[in-house]
Amino acid sequence: MPFNASRFVAQKAEDMQKYADGEAVIATSGGVDSTVAAVLVKKAFGRKLHCVFVDTGLLRKGEAETAKLNFRKCGLDVKIVDASARFLGGLKGVGDPERKRKIIGELFIRVFEEEAKACKAKYLVQGTIAPDWIESGSGMRDNIKSHHNVGGLPKEMGLLLIEPLRDLYKDEVRLVAKELGVPSEVFSRQPFPGPGLAIRVMGEVTKERVDIVREACAIVEEELEAAAKARKMEIPWQYFAVLLPVKSVGVQGDVRAYGYTIAVRAVDAADGMTANYSAVPHEILHKISLRITNAMKDKVNRVVFDVTNKPPATIEWE
Ligand code: XMP
Repeated sequence: MPFNASRFVAQKAEDMQKYADGEAVIATSGGVDSTVAAVLVKKAFGRKLHCVFVDTGLLRKGEAETAKLNFRKCGLDVKIVDASARFLGGLKGVGDPERKRKIIGELFIRVFEEEAKACKAKYLVQGTIAPDWIESGSGMRDNIKSHHNVGGLPKEMGLLLIEPLRDLYKDEVRLVAKELGVPSEVFSRQPFPGPGLAIRVMGEVTKERVDIVREACAIVEEELEAAAKARKMEIPWQYFAVLLPVKSVGVQGDVRAYGYTIAVRAVDAADGMTANYSAVPHEILHKISLRITNAMKDKVNRVVFDVTNKPPATIEWE
């Protein structure tokens, strides 16, 4: 039977009623999953739902401002918590991708615990969707990546978990968003992973590396969105930059340079479980490469394009 968003919303609104006997807290990232979860749960909880936006210092350029604007459009009142120093501090010296994910997940929980205590929450709402827990290892499959919003909730936190989107895939979440009247700027946004730019910096995360990848991601987004608007290509399902800690030799003017490598990733997918790399026209790749190397002359001197599908790769590099 095809997915029916209107039936789903009606059913969930009814299901949620039984939980509305206490305060609930949700971490809204500004992405489609957590925003839809918040709007859905707010229907039953009203002012008893407390939304928190954690600024991890690992966000994209302008993300906090865009998120604030979008929350307002969705009728959500969101508290912004600046935890960037805690996240960067916690990741210091850590290079292993799974360890990075675990640290970020734990820090989210700590920040959250504090917020939940402050509003005396009984429930914790999460925007977990099916691929998150499937890929985190549901017992039936290998743990491909530990998605930060899955598992790991300490028992002593004493919060009951509500995951209204748990059985949905991304395309279905977008249908639910439409049904709920969430503005298209929110539900048509490309996915952004919970651990943020930390998993787009290969190896150790430092402020310098995050700043580089943030700028490179912004350039990739601007160029691909402009190209799609000019009908030079279809907008990919997801598109971003990754910083490789590999330094290579280059030349700036007539001086030797030694800088990082940026990989550009753009994929077409239906739900993110499988993906094909996008056929981005060469002129656009060329422009992206020029802009990145010009914007960060002393830091990046090489740009490559990832031509791997999922499988065998994953969409993110970590
Ligand atoms: P992968 O890299 O596993 O990504 O092929 C599939 C989709 O999931 C996103 N992703 C995450 N989303 N928490 C999230 O909320 C995570 O920890 C996480 N890791 C990957 C990824 O950006 C892609 O859209």
